[in-house]
Amino acid sequence: MSAPLLEARGVDLHFGGVQAAKDVNLQIFPGEFFFIIGQNGAGKSTFLNICTGYLKPQRGEILFQGRPITGLAPRAITRAGIARAFQHPQLFMQRSVRDNLRFAVAAHGTGFWRPWRALDDPHFDAPARRLLQLCDLERVAAQPAAKVAEGFRKLLDVALALALEPTLLLLDEPTSGVSSADKHGIMTTLAQALRKERVTAVFVEHDMEVVRRFADRVGVWANGQILISGPPEAVLDDPHVREFVL
Ligand SMILES: Nc1ncnc2c1ncn2[C@@H]1O[C@H](COP(=O)(O)OP(=O)(O)OP(=O)(O)O)[C@@H](O)[C@H]1O
Ligand SMILES: [Mg+2]
Repeated sequence: MSAPLLEARGVDLHFGGVQAAKDVNLQIFPGEFFFIIGQNGAGKSTFLNICTGYLKPQRGEILFQGRPITGLAPRAITRAGIARAFQHPQLFMQRSVRDNLRFAVAAHGTGFWRPWRALDDPHFDAPARRLLQLCDLERVAAQPAAKVAEGFRKLLDVALALALEPTLLLLDEPTSGVSSADKHGIMTTLAQALRKERVTAVFVEHDMEVVRRFADRVGVWANGQILISGPPEAVLDDPHVREFVL
């Protein structure tokens, strides 16, 4: 088996009396789609926030490509190759989908947040177009982000994260707020884009049908702990898990 891309070792984090991460030990391997499931407040987002440097654990370590990243600033972690898509996409709502992508490409390419450069610099057109294509956003490229359906905004958020050329992408409920009819289409587009770019992904997901269909491995979170992890069939059909999560 290949070396883990990401590894959590004995990670603890508590907020006052609430234990949001409790001796979390996990390995994520290159190329896999790992799905985190568990009830509200189980510590799923907390784990992603620790991995991206937004929260610092009180104990334990996160290793990325074998190197410790615990305590690094979010920006340094992003630069190392871990990107993040959010539960509520953060977009320039009045700008077109295409401009949002040009900004992201420009910000990544120049290392500075000078998005206005992107608007008249044709240098950023080709990478933005590639991302539009990759995430199936071409037909809404000219529309303001505020005007497109939520599903397209979710795809745009992932496209923005891919502009950072990550090795690992963490997605916190990427299809939340989208109708279940649209979920599978969005997830299919997402999964194809990630596979094509060879991006390893950790998802937080509440919809068990989505988990069953797209996960290579699943981990069940409860009270800040990983109860069990393994292939989707084994985990989702475990009666103990069904009691906790479904
Ligand atoms: N910044 C914070 N300050 C205090 N408590 C927090 C903070 N962030 C999370 N918590 C608490 O830590 C626990 C885990 O929260 P977390 O957001 O990780 O849960 P979750 O599994 O992502 O839940 P959900 O499915 O609702 O998104 C909860 O009890 C939550 O109230
Ligand atoms: Mg959460």
